[in-house]
Amino acid sequence: MKGIILAGGLGSRMLPLTKITNKHLLPIFDRPMIYYPIKTLINAGIDDILVVTGGRNAGDFLRLLGNGKEFGLKHINYTYQEGEGGIAEALGLAEYFAAGEPVCVILGDNIIEKNIVGAVEAYRKQKSGAKILLKEVPDPERFGVPILEGDRVVRIEEKPKRPKSPYAVTGIYMYDGRVFETIKTLKPSSRGELEITDVNNAYIEMGELTWDILDGWWTDAGTFDSLLRASNLVAKSGANNMD
Ligand code: G1P
Repeated sequence: MKGIILAGGLGSRMLPLTKITNKHLLPIFDRPMIYYPIKTLINAGIDDILVVTGGRNAGDFLRLLGNGKEFGLKHINYTYQEGEGGIAEALGLAEYFAAGEPVCVILGDNIIEKNIVGAVEAYRKQKSGAKILLKEVPDPERFGVPILEGDRVVRIEEKPKRPKSPYAVTGIYMYDGRVFETIKTLKPSSRGELEITDVNNAYIEMGELTWDILDGWWTDAGTFDSLLRASNLVAKSGANNMD
């Protein structure tokens, strides 16, 4: 399985912090944000990694990460997303890299306490379709929210005003090679982006989406509040066995 880290966008929600750098290079406690999703993939045994970045400071990723020596890697792949076309558009840029293989996708601002080893193993056995990871949160309206019937996710709503479950769809997704065909059929949402939630709903409609609950704490870091929260969580209990 290949790994894809989505670290594009202009970070407009976080100005002026992102005026002269990319959101994913901001510090989470003692490390740049992008270190955490890289470690999440490596801890799950995924070492063929593509970083999709964008904006005015894309070159800084190369200066920071190089070929990934600090993480025990020999090579890191990079690609460039122009503008803010959304998470699914960024993933679409990885088609050539994936070359038909299954992929584990992680949003560059998603930080986890533990690891995704169990979910990755389960997905390897699943062989096709998609898998998402859910986490109970106090503010599901900020995220993609699953509607559950029994133990089946029947639909995901993106940032619903009245969430129908207490879960967030975390930014960690596993897909088979068909994901790129699905992305080509998507239409931009009301915020003008290709939504990852629409990709997941397409797999639900095919009856091929499974889910697990993510173990340990999880947070995004894409707002001022969640950036602070992420730093505090990492400072208190560490993340990803980083040390
Ligand atoms: C994105 C997804 C959302 C998901 C979240 C996880 O939201 O659209 O479904 O729950 O990441 O971090 P965004 O960060 O673009 O608001």
